[in-house]
Amino acid sequence: MSANDRRPVGSPQSQTYDSAFLKACRREPVPHTPVWFMRQAGRSLPEYLKVREGIPMLDSCMRPELVTEITLQPVRRHGVDAAIFFSDIVVPLKAIGIDLDIKPGVGPVIAEPIRTRADLARLRDLTPEDVTYVTEAIGMLTRELGSTPLIGFAGAPFTLASYLVEGGPSRNHEHTKALMYGDPRLWADLLDRLAEITGAFLKVQIEAGASAVQLFDSWVGAIAPADYTRSVMPASAKVFDAVASYGVPRIHFGVGTGELLGLMGEAGADVVGVDWRVPMDEAARRVGPGKALQGNLDPAVLFSTPDAVMAKTDEVLDAAAGLEGHIFNLGHGVLPTTDPDALTRLTEYVHTRTAR
Ligand code: CP3
Repeated sequence: MSANDRRPVGSPQSQTYDSAFLKACRREPVPHTPVWFMRQAGRSLPEYLKVREGIPMLDSCMRPELVTEITLQPVRRHGVDAAIFFSDIVVPLKAIGIDLDIKPGVGPVIAEPIRTRADLARLRDLTPEDVTYVTEAIGMLTRELGSTPLIGFAGAPFTLASYLVEGGPSRNHEHTKALMYGDPRLWADLLDRLAEITGAFLKVQIEAGASAVQLFDSWVGAIAPADYTRSVMPASAKVFDAVASYGVPRIHFGVGTGELLGLMGEAGADVVGVDWRVPMDEAARRVGPGKALQGNLDPAVLFSTPDAVMAKTDEVLDAAAGLEGHIFNLGHGVLPTTDPDALTRLTEYVHTRTAR
């Protein structure tokens, strides 16, 4: 390991500090608008399907060499400005002993849902020893990535609670909301537990070398602003506070969160992720000054013609032109049947069109 690798992330001496991605997060001038894609590592890539063959999703997250290869694949292929760590939001829960699996085409499924005060005892603290494979993989990755930043991530307390309380993916989150409204004390304690675990998991990733972190509150768009403020925001804020001192950018993203963008920024994010339903200039008004924004091409647009993709990309870039800091991304994850070449072309197009 070179001396450079030992320099703390977040400091101007770190290898990734001057990357376009971190500059945009800090709202500094950039040579081009940086690009990365949520779910860039995964089923849209044939090379991913090949190395994953016969290996269950959660097992693959625990093999540092495989994690390193999968994380690097989209960086090599598309020339994106950042890598996102190959893992899943339920990995820390698995690591503390929750019996769960990721079912292909379904998502995370929990053997015994968490719904009572007694169930809370199953959510013990996470220690770095529980996830040594994460530390090892990030060490390998940051050496390979050099000046390309690695984004660490975790699921936000609400979204994790939704999986734990429902027992799996849910359209209406009925059990989750029943608990939130019916037993606010137990709900607050559950989210606080999850905030502790999530904060610890993000710390492990930053200490190992992640240059930024993204907190995915994918399903929080199901919640109205007043309920968000009362029942969700304190736990998300606790996660952001836990990693504030590292000085690495903290990104916050959820789907269908047009009404929550301001509050999600206030929770403690440096960068607010926007799905495709709100134009970037309107999102900037809702978030207010002092934060960068990330987004927001509809992932389904990539199924259209190259001309249509360029036209829709122009709309995003034009709406984002006046922003202090813009990171180009999709409004949600890459859809599994997306043509990988469409992502490569999109990356090149954004880089060329925004070169300054
Ligand atoms: O972005 C990346 O490329 C990094 C890897 C990543 C995965 N999951 C890998 C994965 C990230 C950042 C996640 C986060 C995640 N996981 C979220 C938040 C992001 C979002 O999409 O809103 C959520 C809600 C989950 C839970 C989860 N895990 C779902 C909904 C699924 C898909 C189920 C399916 O098969 O349709 C998973 C499984 C999963 N996580 C896959 C991948 C590549 C697919 C599994 C496979 O390839 O076998």
